[in-house]
Amino acid sequence: MESFINEVDFFKGNNPEEIAREYGTPLYVYNEDIIRDRMMRVAGVITAYPYRANYSCKTNTNLEILKIALSVGVNADAMSEGEMRMLQKAGFPSDRIFYVCNNVSADEMRYAIENNIPVSLDSLDQLRLFGEINRGGRCAVRINPGVGAGHHEKVVTAGKKTKFGIAEEDIDSIFDIAKEYDLKIIGINQHVGSLFMDPAPFLAAVDNLLRIAKKFENLEFIDFGGGYGIPYHKLDDEKEFDMSSFSKEFTKKLDEFVKEYGSAPMFKSEPGRYCVAEGGVILGRVHSIKQNSGVKYIGTDVGMNVLVRPSMYDSWHDIEIISDGKVVARDKDSMEKVTVCGNICESGDVLCKDRELPGVKDNDLVCVLDAGAYGYSMCSSYNTRLRPAEVMICSDGSVKLIRRRETFEDMFRLYE
Ligand SMILES: Cc1ncc(COP(=O)(O)O)c(C=O)c1O
Repeated sequence: MESFINEVDFFKGNNPEEIAREYGTPLYVYNEDIIRDRMMRVAGVITAYPYRANYSCKTNTNLEILKIALSVGVNADAMSEGEMRMLQKAGFPSDRIFYVCNNVSADEMRYAIENNIPVSLDSLDQLRLFGEINRGGRCAVRINPGVGAGHHEKVVTAGKKTKFGIAEEDIDSIFDIAKEYDLKIIGINQHVGSLFMDPAPFLAAVDNLLRIAKKFENLEFIDFGGGYGIPYHKLDDEKEFDMSSFSKEFTKKLDEFVKEYGSAPMFKSEPGRYCVAEGGVILGRVHSIKQNSGVKYIGTDVGMNVLVRPSMYDSWHDIEIISDGKVVARDKDSMEKVTVCGNICESGDVLCKDRELPGVKDNDLVCVLDAGAYGYSMCSSYNTRLRPAEVMICSDGSVKLIRRRETFEDMFRLYE
């Protein structure tokens, strides 16, 4: 693909240079249509049985994005009190939130219980704590199915080497604790890891959880977790995750289970990245270009405080160059190997190394693709830099500021 920005008309006819001037850089820019479309796709993965997609809002908790999720009928997962509160602020009722916590305090758990938000417990200790706070209550348990998968060691969330979930061999202890505190286990959930382009590991995990589910009686729901991938190498023509064949394979597995289990509980999944990654980009400004020991460094204002994924996971993000408001063509002749970095005082503050990009000039814009997921939500104020603003290119083509840039006054307020 020559240019994703042009191919999907990401800015809907608006000039990215004008947007960057008006709102400043670095700037998160979202496209409402793309986010709506992806959320609708995940909502329709299973149609033969009661099914809900829970948007995993850790990925992006901007209120406007949560409101899109609410309006297309997906539910949401929360991992913290902050995420529960954001979802409530966006208008999610309690029964459309699922609190999937780990290692939380009694106070945080109490917040969920007092707000009637369904809770999943991630360890026997936390199940006991739930029982102490809420004797006779209803809850789910997060199972560690023993195998994990994902694009990087740090996003594998099941298997022998992670902190998550209750091991299959401890299921009898779940029943013992449930009996002691008169708890009803109404659901089980898992999340094996993140970013599958090949559905095989997810489907294997589905088989495994369905096998484990048969050890529980009268489950009201089974939640298979998230992980659907997106093509981060789209400029190299990487294909999309094939949602329609995945959906057929997934349904077949549920058919077999329902026959044996005798009833169909509500089936759920927890996609995050798939819903929002492609609907977000970062616009950053080139402030300096230099050669150091034969390497050409493109110095921008998109530091690791703005997008941490490349430094944290060695993640790849495609980058397009925008000059005078237009995407620079990737002609063979103009391509050169460069390293794009940010303005943070860390040698790991690198967006991409030795990447072929078309000729970049001072003051051009870099447009970092697929930044809608784990972008702003993982921002920091490292080096005492301000968190960026976020704008939405709305379906009607208008540009709306959906979170203002942080100010120094915001920072100083914590000391008052
Ligand atoms: C429990 C849980 N559910 C869902 C997700 C969403 O995963 P993804 O964004 O890969 O779909 C995560 C991400 O790590 C998670 O930890």
